Amino acid sequence: MINSIPITDAGDLRLADYVALREVNLRKSLESAEGLFIAEGEKVIRRAVEAGYRPRSFLLAERWLASLRDVLVRCPDTPVYLATEEVTEQVTGFHVHRGALASLHRQPPRPVEDVLGRRRPRRSRIAVLENLVDHANVGSAFRNAAALGVDAVLVTPSCADPLYRRAIKTSMGNVFNVPWTRTPPMPDLLDLLRAHGYTTVALTLADDSITLDELAERDLPALALIFGTEGAGVDPRTARDVDLRVRIPMAAGVDSLNVAAATAVVFYVTR
Ligand SMILES: C[S@@+](CC[C@H](N)C(=O)[O-])C[C@H]1O[C@@H](n2cnc3c(N)ncnc32)[C@H](O)[C@@H]1O
Repeated sequence: MINSIPITDAGDLRLADYVALREVNLRKSLESAEGLFIAEGEKVIRRAVEAGYRPRSFLLAERWLASLRDVLVRCPDTPVYLATEEVTEQVTGFHVHRGALASLHRQPPRPVEDVLGRRRPRRSRIAVLENLVDHANVGSAFRNAAALGVDAVLVTPSCADPLYRRAIKTSMGNVFNVPWTRTPPMPDLLDLLRAHGYTTVALTLADDSITLDELAERDLPALALIFGTEGAGVDPRTARDVDLRVRIPMAAGVDSLNVAAATAVVFYVTR
């Protein structure tokens, strides 16, 4: 059975979870206060529910009922609000191309130790996203991690939220597949990584960095690959305190890669 509820008024308070989806600051405070996040599009909603996230509600154009039926019948108590695309656009503030939204409960944060594993890893690569600002870069890094076999992603306390709608979208739902959690701040995180057997590696253009090919040649068993923020790069204290600094050599005249592109190159070469 599907608990479908037609909604014709964009001011209906039952749609409060979906208000003003493009207003980043408003959404950040609403989503953290309510412990929710928004998934957009049939595939992404399906992945979230299959990964064990519990839906609070769905907001769909009627034509999505058929393709999401198997998901909806698994959540018989969850309201499925049915609205026209015009009503949804008034609530969310933009045209929802894929016509399907869901509001889901966040899960309690996982302890870092659980994500790293209790035993010393034989072979493992994890990515650390240090203070990334742009949700699309965070999402792309998760997609690259999933596609190129990285075991987990750690995000530092100030890093943009992987469960923000845009991050989920650019990850293609891979934020639900790749184990991840938020970490303690640096330098405690470096200590924790070393205690778990990881060699800490900052991706940075520092003068004393070795090349990515040289890193690959060392064939180290457990790598924590740390990527820095879009503007300033890896925090200078982190870059100073890590075990290795590594650069992707750039052709003359080009300063650096976009951080998401850098993750793809590094994940591929170290696979
Ligand atoms: C746009 S870059 C930041 C550039 C910054 N000016 C710097 O000096 O690091 C964002 C992040 O992508 C990674 N990155 C981009 N290009 C890189 C390269 N050629 N070598 C190593 N890391 C790179 C680094 O982790 C960097 O912190």
